[in-house]
Amino acid sequence: MQKSLHKYLFELGVEPKLRHLVMEIARASKYVAHAVRVGDTGIAGSSNIQGENQMALDVLSDDVFCNVLSESDLVASFASEEQDDIVMINGKRGSYSVAFDPLDGSSLIGVNISVGSIFGIWEGNGFVGKTGAEMRAAGYFQYGPRTSFVIALGGKISEFTLNELGEYHLSIEDITVAEDANIFAPGNLRAIQERPEYGRVLDYFLTTRKTLRYAGGLVPDVNSIFMKKNGIFTYPSHSQYPNGKLRLIYECAPMAYLMSAAGGKAVTESGEPILLIECNDLHQRTSIFLGSKNDVDKTVKILNS
Ligand code: F6P
Repeated sequence: MQKSLHKYLFELGVEPKLRHLVMEIARASKYVAHAVRVGDTGIAGSSNIQGENQMALDVLSDDVFCNVLSESDLVASFASEEQDDIVMINGKRGSYSVAFDPLDGSSLIGVNISVGSIFGIWEGNGFVGKTGAEMRAAGYFQYGPRTSFVIALGGKISEFTLNELGEYHLSIEDITVAEDANIFAPGNLRAIQERPEYGRVLDYFLTTRKTLRYAGGLVPDVNSIFMKKNGIFTYPSHSQYPNGKLRLIYECAPMAYLMSAAGGKAVTESGEPILLIECNDLHQRTSIFLGSKNDVDKTVKILNS
């Protein structure tokens, strides 16, 4: 029998409370995975705090994560990318705070491309004033032809696959990302119109004969890097998104935490480590360059020269 998620966490020596919380988050993902397969793929008719139109599945996934976390006496508070404010559950009596993007890349639902959920877990109550480096664990679920769960905690990152019995079992242990990238995922190419230096980054990818692997969703794009054990994802700022598009605590900090556990790197376009950015607003955004160390460094250098 393959190793279960619970056994993996137990053998890794993860403290019981954190283990329990991760199992609860994994439970929530199973409902979302089911809804992505059989649920309503249309729009919800509402919009979120960012003014983006919500899909029916955005709303449902948010409800699922909120319900599961609300039931847990371990949770001090949580924040969802789909909601305006932090939600207090047990306040100081809770042990952890969870930030999550319940369904990232939901514009891909209609075209049947993989989507995912992303989360980060901090100790204590709340997020403001904290950095990604202070997280205790981070992970994402990818709802694709198969449902997978990639989690970093205790300095190690591994992949689990959801089987037909509804159990996550270990599929790849201890993922590492090489220092040099063979694949590239260039987000926000429209920035080249305003920033020729981003065009030079693209030239660098092409002249070094890297292979394009771009899905248009953060989860499948970053997952490609982990599965191929190398690669780079870029999303710079431009006038429409002066600070970048992707959100710090729901998307970038968890992905940076995962990348750093795999030996890769994640920085802003000016080279600041994503994990050292202090959260001062729940919906704060950042540019992001992440993946194989040498190529992240090289790319940021080209962008700033
Ligand atoms: O934040 C949502 C998201 O869909 C990410 O999953 C993805 O990487 C990015 O936005 C794509 O942005 P754009 O629509 O600018 O290509």
